Amino acid sequence: MANKDTRLSVDTLLVHDQRHSKGAVAPPIYQTSLFTFDSYQAMVDRFRGDTEQAVYSRIDNPTVSVLLEKMCQLEGGEKALAFSSGIAAISNAILGLVKAGDRIVCVRHCYPDTYRLLQLICARFGVTTQFVDGTDLKEIEHALPGAKLLYLESPTTQLFEEQDLNRIATLARAADVITVIDNSWATPIFQKPIESGIDLVVHSASKYISGHSDTVAGLLVGTGALIDKLTSETTPYLGAKLSAQEAALLLRGLRTLPLRLQRHQTSALVIAKRLRNTLP
Ligand SMILES: Cc1ncc(COP(=O)(O)O)c(C=O)c1O
Repeated sequence: MANKDTRLSVDTLLVHDQRHSKGAVAPPIYQTSLFTFDSYQAMVDRFRGDTEQAVYSRIDNPTVSVLLEKMCQLEGGEKALAFSSGIAAISNAILGLVKAGDRIVCVRHCYPDTYRLLQLICARFGVTTQFVDGTDLKEIEHALPGAKLLYLESPTTQLFEEQDLNRIATLARAADVITVIDNSWATPIFQKPIESGIDLVVHSASKYISGHSDTVAGLLVGTGALIDKLTSETTPYLGAKLSAQEAALLLRGLRTLPLRLQRHQTSALVIAKRLRNTLP
């Protein structure tokens, strides 16, 4: 799925996209539920998995696919999925990877609805969660053996506690635990968890990736093997797909993501310095 053209910088990749029909600079919005085939054989080939033509927009849509390619390029992942909200991306990732009797290790102070998903829904299906201090490597190392999944959020919501992703990914690999991180706050402009060895990255794209406060959306990027497991066992049956219209809005947002994040950083630093100067 990922565009292999690594000669272009991320900024350029986000702005340029020259493969659209009739020379369109922005990807066409495929506002359709179903897709037809040129021949019966083309349909057979698609259902055999020999081609990738879109079939039905709950499963795949060409506008959404352009967004997924760009997210793979940005995060350095092999495959990606798009959802109708950030919490849909999170719930699909978690519910798709655990089963009754499993234990999840999760950093404290994660996004509150992620906490509720773990405590209300996962618990109802016999999946327990152990919350740990994400800044304490010893506590994480201790909690990992026997766990199925380690859920990270760095920085965490509101308290902005950070985790050492390189060292945590190494610990999790050694314990055979799948790692998932919510990267909504840092975005791939400031943090690329997959390069640190994390397996799956989730986003509330409703925030910085959209950038215009006009979309609620979620994204999931990761290894081909894990995304394939989710698409074959879970995501089509939970049905929380992203619409083509909203994918187009996110693609527009991505064009300015690096610029906006730089500006956020500059402004935040000005405020932080002013606040520091007001301290006694
Ligand atoms: C860090 C973080 N993760 C996940 C979510 C959930 O995303 P959404 O509101 O798009 O479902 C949010 C929403 O505020 C968030 O801030």
